[in-house]
Amino acid sequence: MAYTIRTFGDPVLKAQAAKVTDIDGKIARLVDDMFDTLYTSDSGIGLAAPQIGVQKQIFVWDMDDEPMVIFNPEIVESSGEWVYDEGCLSIPGLYVEMLRPNEVLMRGVDIDGNTIEIEASELAGRLFQHEIDHLNGVLFIDHLSRLKRERVMKKYVKAARQRSEA
Ligand code: NI
Repeated sequence: MAYTIRTFGDPVLKAQAAKVTDIDGKIARLVDDMFDTLYTSDSGIGLAAPQIGVQKQIFVWDMDDEPMVIFNPEIVESSGEWVYDEGCLSIPGLYVEMLRPNEVLMRGVDIDGNTIEIEASELAGRLFQHEIDHLNGVLFIDHLSRLKRERVMKKYVKAARQRSEA
């Protein structure tokens, strides 16, 4: 079942998500629902649980028709720099060029409860950093300077208003 994706301004997007302690049937259903929700979007490649209003440390992604999920993820190492036009399903239509580390090592727990590590760079590395931010109540625009953030959000709010009036 697809959920409605929470958007900018929803307090759940600013909250710290809790660690998953038990990967049970309820969590497995939630993961299915997260994929259903991800696949309702045109351009999304990743979705974090807070984006559907669930304050748990889970995110799903699908970059090459390969559905993936991780629990309690963290970035344990990062290096390099990479600029990418970053966007978010919770701030639809806004893309901002952002500099972040390129290579990352992510550690977390898989659906069987095993600790796993995944190395990634470029798009996948960016996705991991972006989704882990969601689990800590951080949106990508929070990395911008206050001045730049205010400027892009003014534009975003205006465009969103025009969309809703159209
Ligand atoms: Ni996002």
